[in-house]
Amino acid sequence: MIKRPRRLRSSETLRRMVRETRIDKSALIYPVFVKEGMRIREEIPSMKGQFRYSVDQMLYEMEKISNAGISSVMLFGIPEHKDELASQAYAQNGIIQQALKEAKKRFPELYYITDVCLCEYTSHGHCGMLCNQEVDNDATLKVLARTALSHAQAGADMVAPSDMMDGRVAAVREILDVNKYINVPVMSYAVKYASGFYEPFRDAAESAPTFGDRKSYQMDYHNRREGIKEVLLDEEEGADIIMVKPALAYLDMIAHVKEVTNLPVAAYSVSGEYAMIKAAAEKGWIDEAKIVCETAAAAFRAGAQIYLTYYAKELAQYIDEGRIG
Ligand code: PBG
Repeated sequence: MIKRPRRLRSSETLRRMVRETRIDKSALIYPVFVKEGMRIREEIPSMKGQFRYSVDQMLYEMEKISNAGISSVMLFGIPEHKDELASQAYAQNGIIQQALKEAKKRFPELYYITDVCLCEYTSHGHCGMLCNQEVDNDATLKVLARTALSHAQAGADMVAPSDMMDGRVAAVREILDVNKYINVPVMSYAVKYASGFYEPFRDAAESAPTFGDRKSYQMDYHNRREGIKEVLLDEEEGADIIMVKPALAYLDMIAHVKEVTNLPVAAYSVSGEYAMIKAAAEKGWIDEAKIVCETAAAAFRAGAQIYLTYYAKELAQYIDEGRIG
């Protein structure tokens, strides 16, 4: 036999040498839920190990994140007051705006990305302004743009629109540029499917729609070419980074997207992915660390350069321990 693939698998040193996917902590982004109030540290029932923090408690968490060697966080806000206009999304003293100011003061070494969406702020839980029970695309753009600007003004290093309205990247880019935030990048949730995997998140962020679903704005999961259409549009509108979401059931999309764009590609391992691994691990049916490493490696192998995950702290530790990387 001349060719023996097993030859290169014969020792750990050799396996690591020929490894095709290398994972670095600098690629990890940790999502954090911030809630209005004081001394709040509530565990999210469907996401064991993840919490809603008030700003004062969030600071302790930021310290842990920073100590774990994670360089970036994605902030989600949970306001006390919700209304039809999502007014707390862009309020100067809104929850995200407060969180940014405090966190940046205490942990300037971290990189702060904000989720730009309205579902946590509207009384009806939809991602935009309503007109006769329908989400009004163009009216929503103005509110999203205003929200993104207020995040930049409060110190966001990057903004990430996740609403799936048409034209939102252009609207956000324009308002940032006009206000001289030319160097604040836009990470677009470009390929975002209407997914059952977001259920625990809606519990966490108290953002489930009170009627209907998100299928008129998030994508149908039967579609591949539609995802490419979204990527190309967002690229034209000035997106700097393209995200695919969820990750695990959409590895094919990560690979396709990587082929059609030269922009960096991010993958979001969403709340339902986290919840499934946690639940099975709690039952003792799987080895949590092994599954976390394997699913993360799969996203990177498919083409992701950036990985958003609720397991970021654990992954950072596994990387340090040489279990993955
Ligand atoms: C806001 C938003 C959602 C997620 C990220 N941004 C929820 C949704 O679209 O319903 C989901 C993240 C997760 O499930 O971890 N629109």
